[in-house]
Amino acid sequence: MPEGIVTVAYIAATILFILALGGLSHPETARRGNLYGIIGMSIAMLATIFGVVTANYLMLIAGLIAGGIIGLILARRVQMTQMPELVAILHSLVGLAAVLVGFVNFLDPEVHYTGVELTIHDVETYLGILIGAVTFSGSVIAFGKLSGKIGGAPLTLPARHWLNLALLLIAIWYGYQFVVQSAAGGGLVPLLIMTAAALLFGIHMVMAIGGADMPVVVSMLNSYSGWAAAATGFMLSNDLLIVTGALVGSSGAILSYIMCRAMNRRFLAVIAGGFGTAGSAAVGTGGDQGEVVPVNAMEAANLLVGSKEIMIVPGYGMAVAQAQHIVCEITKILRDKGINVRFGIHPVAGRMPGHMNVLLAEARVPYDIVFEMDEINEEFPDIDVSIVIGANDIVNPSAQEEPDSPIAGMPVLEVWKGRTTIVLKRSMATGYAGVQNPLFFKDNTRMLFGDARESLDEVLMEI
Ligand code: TAP
Repeated sequence: MPEGIVTVAYIAATILFILALGGLSHPETARRGNLYGIIGMSIAMLATIFGVVTANYLMLIAGLIAGGIIGLILARRVQMTQMPELVAILHSLVGLAAVLVGFVNFLDPEVHYTGVELTIHDVETYLGILIGAVTFSGSVIAFGKLSGKIGGAPLTLPARHWLNLALLLIAIWYGYQFVVQSAAGGGLVPLLIMTAAALLFGIHMVMAIGGADMPVVVSMLNSYSGWAAAATGFMLSNDLLIVTGALVGSSGAILSYIMCRAMNRRFLAVIAGGFGTAGSAAVGTGGDQGEVVPVNAMEAANLLVGSKEIMIVPGYGMAVAQAQHIVCEITKILRDKGINVRFGIHPVAGRMPGHMNVLLAEARVPYDIVFEMDEINEEFPDIDVSIVIGANDIVNPSAQEEPDSPIAGMPVLEVWKGRTTIVLKRSMATGYAGVQNPLFFKDNTRMLFGDARESLDEVLMEI
């Protein structure tokens, strides 16, 4: 394939990737965004296979088939609630690829550079391997924590900041040594030492981050995987890889920033670690909180039918119970009765960005009644009934009322300001952050205990 066609194909793929990102920013256009991404990636792969690759086709096709089959099986099997861990393990592959490509490129006897060009190439190799190694080991640990294979509690070694600093200095010093020795024909040993330091740094960094901060870590590793790909693009002089890596790197960084804001965390504080609990032990709000008021499905149905303004606040439990379809049915019936039903979505509800939006879109809940937290939070005083479906941390008033709470300062949906709140959950267990929730004990809260789907089935029948 002539070089000109490859360049045109790469430009087309870049434009499609940008359109894909634009499309993914809203549920209504997300499907189209995904389609743009698929077409862009297909064009990029075809142009690379037929225009850039010159040998080893058999190995390439075997790899593509094996990878394609594994990807297909994973995508079919994975539950929506397991998405973050799948994303984490996929990031680790990007990091590993960057490390391997870096070493292969360094050891390739056919790559000949001299003088400044050699130095620039070595710096590209160094950066690709450094970021790739941190991404790889950090993502493997993130996968372990998210899937429960490693405990969620932060590992806070006594001199952990000094350890990080020492690893950083080792990486910089051996990076310098690598560039110097490479000019004289060597460099492998410093490169290996630097890689080991980067791998250790990735492990230590994510081990030190607690369960409550894991969502930010996943998007941060997403960003790192993009920068690792961009560095690999420089190393291989592949413009498309540079642009795509930069798109992933910057969008991941923006997502991390948005999530930090949603959880009232400072990005550097997240990276420094030491915050968050294992996700099960209840902390904060100790002592006697009073009684909870349980209701049955009939009472809940009566409350709903007797109201004019309803706000539905879904959380992780709705995903676990797969209750989105029944929620949609109830919404339709209530709206047909002339009741104004809206949804309030917290930016970190569930276990991945946009988790609730995806579920509601799947159940065909109209987009125009689904609102972001910032759009809707001031409306709660006018709400007759809020239904909290399997949500906990995102409606926890202690984030505002208790400065010592681990989630202090995290913006939350202020459901308790409405007339009545119905909370659907199975028990009094805590949510992801492991913090007890005073909402359940408020006078205007009613608890409908049980699996969210079963409870809503009964409520639907009563309605
Ligand atoms: P959580 O605070 O985790 O609360 C979920 C609640 O759902 C639990 O208290 C659980 O109580 C209930 N539940 C579980 N299964 C249920 C079922 N089958 N039926 C009914 N209820 C069920 O969820 P949230 O309010 O959505 O908050 C999200 C939390 O996850 C935040 O702390 C956030 O930082 C964190 N996080 C978010 C993300 C992203 S990006 N969204 C990623 C990772 C972590 P029972 O056990 O009593 O039923």
